[in-house]
Amino acid sequence: MINKEQLNSNIPEHVAIIMDGNGRWAKKKGLFRAVGHEKGTKAVREAVEGAAEVGIKYLTLYAFSTENWNRPKLEIETLMKLLVNSLKKEIKTLQKNNIRLNAIGNLQALPKKARNELLEVIDKTKDNKHMTLSLALSYGSREELIKTIQEISNKVKNNVLSPHLINEAVINEHLYTKSLPDVDLLIRTSGEQRISNFLLWQIAYAELYFTEILWPDFKKTDLFEAILNYQQRERRFGKTSEQLS
Ligand code: IPE
Ligand code: IPE
Ligand code: MG
Repeated sequence: MINKEQLNSNIPEHVAIIMDGNGRWAKKKGLFRAVGHEKGTKAVREAVEGAAEVGIKYLTLYAFSTENWNRPKLEIETLMKLLVNSLKKEIKTLQKNNIRLNAIGNLQALPKKARNELLEVIDKTKDNKHMTLSLALSYGSREELIKTIQEISNKVKNNVLSPHLINEAVINEHLYTKSLPDVDLLIRTSGEQRISNFLLWQIAYAELYFTEILWPDFKKTDLFEAILNYQQRERRFGKTSEQLS
């Protein structure tokens, strides 16, 4: 088991997690998928507290994708109820740890109750400074990019922006993640090695880390292990190894 004392000072500034495997966790135990999702919220707390302890500034969690709307209606309802309950319950943890809540995704698509609860917690925690926790809800990277292109096209059409001025910064400003830096470390649980439409633009130079652990079993120490692994890598950003030293 890794503990946080084994980490050096090179803590990734922005960690994003694809929290996968709730259904398989439940199936393995002969339980309903809903139980897996519920246990998954406990793992969220582990990840959030662990991240705050080691000084990660931005933690972004993939909680519900645009594609997840295609799941059975009952499962979607369960997930939305869990979201509301967790927000109600975890506001205390956020305040105690000085964490600001943020959300990325098409929030208009969420049920009213979930959206209102979310906006309330975002507002209540807006002055917290230790860490920014972003929940990706009804989030899809392609939808985000389409929205971005539409907004930029409108600016061009209305002569507010000239096409030759479109650069990375302009694109960043129109993404849901506009207030967040690029992702440094992307973690996916459950053994799947795919991105599933998450932060395609923002992970351009992220280090990828895949673990077999199913999300409900994810503990702080698993986060620390991912960070330790990250710290053993050389991020070259296109340069040669010699240029870095
Ligand atoms: C992740 O667990 C939670 C969501 C995608 C909402 P899954 O529900 O995808 O679990 P598996 O992949 O079926 O095991
Ligand atoms: C990705 O998990 C979305 C979230 C974790 C919220 P999925 O379980 O929906 O991904 P795929 O469909 O198996 O790739
Ligand atoms: Mg899954």
